[in-house]
Amino acid sequence: MRSPFAFAGIAAMDRGHGPDTKNRFHYLGHLRDAIVWRSIVTANVINFAGKVAYVTGAASGIGRAAAVAFAEAGADVAVVDVNQSGAEETAQQIQKLGRHALIVRADVSRDEDTRHAIDETVAKLGRLDYAFNNAGIEGKNAPTVDLAVEDWDRVISVNLRSIFLSMKYEIPHMLRQGGGAIVNCASVAGLVGFAGLPAYTASKHGIVGLTKTAALEYVAQKIRINAVAPGVIDTPMIERFSGGTEPGRKAMTDLEPIGRMAKPEEVANAVIWLCSDGASYVNGYTLAVDGAFVAR
Ligand SMILES: NC(=O)c1ccc[n+]([C@@H]2O[C@H](COP(=O)([O-])OP(=O)(O)OC[C@H]3O[C@@H](n4cnc5c(N)ncnc54)[C@H](O)[C@@H]3O)[C@@H](O)[C@H]2O)c1
Repeated sequence: MRSPFAFAGIAAMDRGHGPDTKNRFHYLGHLRDAIVWRSIVTANVINFAGKVAYVTGAASGIGRAAAVAFAEAGADVAVVDVNQSGAEETAQQIQKLGRHALIVRADVSRDEDTRHAIDETVAKLGRLDYAFNNAGIEGKNAPTVDLAVEDWDRVISVNLRSIFLSMKYEIPHMLRQGGGAIVNCASVAGLVGFAGLPAYTASKHGIVGLTKTAALEYVAQKIRINAVAPGVIDTPMIERFSGGTEPGRKAMTDLEPIGRMAKPEEVANAVIWLCSDGASYVNGYTLAVDGAFVAR
């Protein structure tokens, strides 16, 4: 089970004076603080046993890392993607953790595929507690005037229409169950403009707005809907952006104030936390996981 706070409990234990110090009362005070802190920590342990997570784009990159992280936390996972072989690899990683993995081949931009994938998840895994609507494409790099209309439509369809469709079919199951948590995958391109990426940037800004709207619509019914906005994450998408060359990777890394790309697992950690009870009061929010990219 994941406990992002566990290390803090240990740190609190270590902070105290040892028994050989002059002031034993002082030590006991620290020990008591540490025990209180430990019980806070225990209360925050992320335990998704008996729960079901639905992850799109789970055959690669951030989606795979999140699907595996859900399984590490104890959930069974629907692995949804157009890429069958990548989905099988993800499913194997989940099964090694002793959890069920259901592979559903679906193009998330298609109404029928998405409805079927979600219904299949509930039919085969029994319920739907968490969804990470993550599948996305970068599209062509071209300024607005030069971007072909069909390229615009494709990116908006895969990145934004998919989020609408996913929530449209996920939420009714969560309403029937009495609650749930959804995380949509936006981007720092959902928070600031990116010259040369008009469709991608518009689609990710759209996700931020849609996330806020859906959160307001279902907050009273105990469904929390948030988004993550990753910065530069070391995945096949970034390999394509960078051209897979060292200078290309350096140019991507140089965009990041933190001075490095993130591992996909670092985004997965934020997704898991947003789905957990630790984030019980977080709703309608887009969490930048970006090494301070948008802090400038
Ligand atoms: N990598 C980054 O730096 C970065 C930064 C910000 C946001 N993001 C977002 O994170 C998400 C995941 O990206 P990634 O970096 O892991 O990329 P990736 O290319 O490694 O993975 C994307 C996955 O989505 C799947 N997919 C694509 N179109 C699909 C469709 N129509 N239906 C179903 N599945 C489809 C792909 O097959 C692939 O498995 C995307 O939404 C992306 O925009 C990535």
